[in-house]
Amino acid sequence: MAAGQRIAILAERAPGETRVAATPETVRKFRALGADVAIEAGAGARAAIADADYAAAGGEVGDATAVIAGADIVLAIQGPDPALLSAMKPGGWVIAGHDPFAQPARVAAYAAAGLEALAMEFMPRITRAQSMDILSSQSNLAGYKAVLIAANLYGRAFPMMMTAAGTVSAARCFVMGVGVAGLQAIATARRLGAQVSATDVRSATREQIVSLGAKPVFVESVAGIEGEGAGGYATEMSAEYQAAQAELVSSHIARQDIVITTALIPGRAAPRLISDAQIASMKPGSVIYDLAVAAGGNVEGSVPDQTVERHGVKIIGYANTPALLPADASALFARNLYNFLSAFWDKEAGKPVLDAEIGDAIRLTQGGKIVNARLLG
Ligand code: NAI
Repeated sequence: MAAGQRIAILAERAPGETRVAATPETVRKFRALGADVAIEAGAGARAAIADADYAAAGGEVGDATAVIAGADIVLAIQGPDPALLSAMKPGGWVIAGHDPFAQPARVAAYAAAGLEALAMEFMPRITRAQSMDILSSQSNLAGYKAVLIAANLYGRAFPMMMTAAGTVSAARCFVMGVGVAGLQAIATARRLGAQVSATDVRSATREQIVSLGAKPVFVESVAGIEGEGAGGYATEMSAEYQAAQAELVSSHIARQDIVITTALIPGRAAPRLISDAQIASMKPGSVIYDLAVAAGGNVEGSVPDQTVERHGVKIIGYANTPALLPADASALFARNLYNFLSAFWDKEAGKPVLDAEIGDAIRLTQGGKIVNARLLG
């Protein structure tokens, strides 16, 4: 049997990042596979995980230099600075949410360093990879938290209340984009007692919206629309569709108190769904949460990591919403990483060996080059 793999986890260094890529649970499980696990001291602090808990799970806690020395695999939430990784084994794997379209220089640096960068967000959306899907695990939490934060900034209540002093009416909440985040946003807003409506370009979501007790709002006037493209993702829509959608949204949005936008198109800027004029048509005191702000934003005027007010409407733009739930977001992200590596763990080789379907989809760099078709294409 080959020498055990050394898996390293550094503290995340990006501003505002609170998550960590391993938990005591996953450290214990990697140890059970025969791997050594090293964790930078303090890496779990913001996710409420003490160094002692990692140590109790069999992890080796040390400074960044000691942790990285001789590592075969680095696990991270966001792609670490390649300069931190120079003491890894040649050809070592750097597994993270690499944000490859937004971080081309960093990806090139991994290639130049001879490292294999594996992008978890490129995981194919196939049944066997569902448990490895960081986009799903993190979007689900983001959809939940967006509603709570919007509710907190809203100067009124969500549920209808009949009190001796009079009736408080239910908030109207509109969810735009009904993928993983949008579905959780609908469910959360419903649980809080709002009247919820939702829209998407993929007609398959209509049934899901109804089954969650919300009202579907769909463009009916443009023939033959179907915004579903490869892998269940949305495609960019025609100009005719976009115009019809804008008109529909304009009449609906003016009556909404809370709007949560989640629309993304992989590899492209997020579609613009709400214009400044539409914001001006909303009631003062309304709240919009733009979950797509880091990808350019669905809402005109939304600003990453700021809450801005336009026409009396608050527009919330946290760029990293999952980081606002560090403990759960870390636990799920860490399990995605473990589920991925353990599924490919070759007992004989004592290390993970990827197959082509998943390996080719997520591998960004290999042998000193960028090798991913989505980056080369
Ligand atoms: P996403 O984060 O890429 O986009 C969010 C939502 O925005 C999507 O529903 C998309 O259709 C919608 N959208 C895009 N442009 C829009 C526009 N102009 N107007 C309104 N809505 C727009 O999507 P997410 O959450 O990653 O899910 C995409 C699909 O993948 C879903 O069908 C989901 O169920 C499926 N999925 C499959 C998995 C698997 O099989 N392993 C795992 C997770 C999701």
